[in-house]
Amino acid sequence: MSEKIRVMLSEEDVDKRIKELGEQISKDYEGKSVHLICILKGGVFFMCELAKRITVPVSMDFMAVSSYGGGTASSGIVKIIKDLDEAIEGRDVIIVEDIIDSGRTLSHLIDLLGQRKPNSIRLCTLLDKPDRRVVDVKVEYVGYSIPDEFVVGYGLDYDQKYRNLPYIGVVEL
Ligand code: IMP
Ligand code: MG
Repeated sequence: MSEKIRVMLSEEDVDKRIKELGEQISKDYEGKSVHLICILKGGVFFMCELAKRITVPVSMDFMAVSSYGGGTASSGIVKIIKDLDEAIEGRDVIIVEDIIDSGRTLSHLIDLLGQRKPNSIRLCTLLDKPDRRVVDVKVEYVGYSIPDEFVVGYGLDYDQKYRNLPYIGVVEL
């Protein structure tokens, strides 16, 4: 079975916006270092491109989480599948995500990482679906706010497919 993909944001759009985010972060963190935490797997393409556009010193770590709970929707209880390799105490952390939907995962993750005493913790997401928000989360850096459609590409998957598309597309079933 194959689905049709409609382009929502072209490769050029995404690259341009990531460059702008990198410039913004470089300005905001002038004189400091940033510690990027990628949420696997979706955030990986975005973080690699973003990191290349940041001009202050950058370090990186990776974390994999899954939401679990009784129901169908994400409960916001985050189970750590792969924890960070390094401590974040005293560091200026930016969590890098592919997309914020209900906000449950991120809200819980910020609480969890906040307990490890970073100097600061901010959120950077390539995409945001504000219409879907259930839990209020403060997001400092947003690539694009998009309507409530299921998107793939640039790390985002549909049934583990399409993560490698160099653009953001909508699956048309
Ligand atoms: P939430 O904010 O806790 O609801 O969870 C967000 C997560 O749901 C993201 O990190 C994605 O893994 C997944 N997700 C939400 N919307 C989409 C989409 O449109 N395409 C692909 N994955 C999505
Ligand atoms: Mg994700």
